[in-house]
Amino acid sequence: MKPPYLQRRYLVSFSSHRLPHIFTDVLVIGGGAAGLRSAIEAANHGQVIVLSKGPKLESNTYYAQGGMAAVIDPADSLEDHIDDTLRTGIEINDKKIVEQCIRSAPQCVEELRDWGVQFDTDGDNLRLGREGGHNASRIVHALGDATGRAIEENLFAKAEATPDIKIFDECFALDLLTDPPEGGGDARCVGAITYHPKHGMQIIQAKVVILAAGGAGMIWRETSNPSGATGDAIAMVFRAGGQLGDMEMMQFHPTTLYIAGSTRSLVSEAVRGEGAYLVNRNGERFMPDYHEMAELAPRDVVSRAILDYMGKTGTNKVYLDVRKIGAKRFAKRFPSIFQKCCDFDIDLDTELIPVHPAAHYMIGGAWVDSCGRTSIAGLLACGEAACTGLHGANRLASNSLTEALVYGKITGQTAAEELEKTGGKFTPRAIDWTVEHSTRTELDLSDIRNSLRSVMWRNTGIVRDAQHLTETLEIIEFWGRYVLDKEFFNDPRGWEIQNMLTAAWVIVQGAILRTETRGVHHRKDYPETDPNWARHLLMTRTPAELIVE
Ligand code: FAD
Ligand code: SIN
Repeated sequence: MKPPYLQRRYLVSFSSHRLPHIFTDVLVIGGGAAGLRSAIEAANHGQVIVLSKGPKLESNTYYAQGGMAAVIDPADSLEDHIDDTLRTGIEINDKKIVEQCIRSAPQCVEELRDWGVQFDTDGDNLRLGREGGHNASRIVHALGDATGRAIEENLFAKAEATPDIKIFDECFALDLLTDPPEGGGDARCVGAITYHPKHGMQIIQAKVVILAAGGAGMIWRETSNPSGATGDAIAMVFRAGGQLGDMEMMQFHPTTLYIAGSTRSLVSEAVRGEGAYLVNRNGERFMPDYHEMAELAPRDVVSRAILDYMGKTGTNKVYLDVRKIGAKRFAKRFPSIFQKCCDFDIDLDTELIPVHPAAHYMIGGAWVDSCGRTSIAGLLACGEAACTGLHGANRLASNSLTEALVYGKITGQTAAEELEKTGGKFTPRAIDWTVEHSTRTELDLSDIRNSLRSVMWRNTGIVRDAQHLTETLEIIEFWGRYVLDKEFFNDPRGWEIQNMLTAAWVIVQGAILRTETRGVHHRKDYPETDPNWARHLLMTRTPAELIVE
């Protein structure tokens, strides 16, 4: 029996000529840093609609803490930032992309400052933080540890004030529309089918679509991501027949606050950059036994070390010791994290912060070129939804806001070029799609969601092996037969679970196929890095098979 994930093209039945249409030049799916930056650029050349599925501002961007990596200090150098990015990515970064992104980063920070983002300063100079894997202090930050909020609010206000941009919040994109519907070499993306609680199903027809719908952390039980990070972008591209890259590469952050019953909020790597130690409950450090950079080793090393240490000591958490920073200084430098600790009565002058690793950043995504073009004509992608090859097998801390902004701008420019190419007239054919009625048992969706997250954490987490990955694939295919066969009308939660299952299926396929250890992908049964695997892993759906390159 073919896996249900290959068969499903659209999540709902529809006749495009029967649904209300909205027309625009550029449709941007995603209102985080990448989507908003691309929209601002594209609006210089046409009309733009930006969608976000939740309330305005809600995105991974909003929660970013540590900051944005860019070479600012004259004593630092672009070459060093490039080297740090390449070293961390373990030989599969795309060097051209790394150079393009890192060289554009300082200008990108300047542009944000010109637009009013107030990065933290020491006198006239930007204050620069230090994070794991960086050999210099080069992280610009705002409001101490609320850099993402400062950037998101600024870009949102700028986009809102741009006459050619319309922002639709609470508007869920279900699927990318392609003409012809089943993809193939000639398919062109012509818009998206969307659902809004007030307006129902609609078609937003666009000459160019930019996918910037973010990451997939919610697929794992432990995650730093907000609840909207359900892998919708991955699932939409996959169903539309677009190429996905490096899906096995999920980055785990070493330190999220670990308090039973509470969501796992991030404790920024910048805290370790300010001198905090990782310790056991007796206050003893263990990272120097694992890596010469100790607490500031790249985050895959630190996450694995914590997991190993917890295993050896039979514990379920470790601690951050910030006592030498002192509560007063900590509160000034990290006001949001300080507040979170206060909420749980943790006295930072005398007590330790309990922490645990968690899924954090999806390195894989829609495979794009240096201009943001995917394998589907008319479809561009940027930000966490895309895979540019910048990060290779492991992302250097604070390089993703930089990537979202640099490639947001570039992708917006590419959209303008595409608009010029397609010109004025453009009439896609009508699309009719029917999802066959299924008589299979209905499974409890919240149970599936929780069970998926648990099994992904246990079996497709920081350390993996063939047996557990294969079992996970079988379980996900079983669930898929009962969840992917249904149509969940007017129910973004149901569609999100279908997307989570679809994205998880592709992630596990990638993790099984890459029979080596590289960066964030650690195989217990293949512990060495294999030079034959120094390449990207690309996957595409056809109704007949999963094409792997
Ligand atoms: P997002 O900001 O996640 O935006 C995604 C958008 O897509 C949202 O508007 C969402 O509503 C929309 N969307 C999703 N699905 C749909 C759908 N089906 N229909 C319509 N809209 C949809 N990186 C750094 O470089 N530095 C940091 O300090 C840092 N700290 C972080 C801290 C936390 C807690 C987290 C979670 C991440 C952090 N990261 C950091 C990573 C970084 O924030 C993200 O990679 C980056 O912000 C992604 O931006 P984006 O625009 O691609 O996606
Ligand atoms: C953090 O502040 O630790 C997150 C930085 C990042 O994800 O790049």
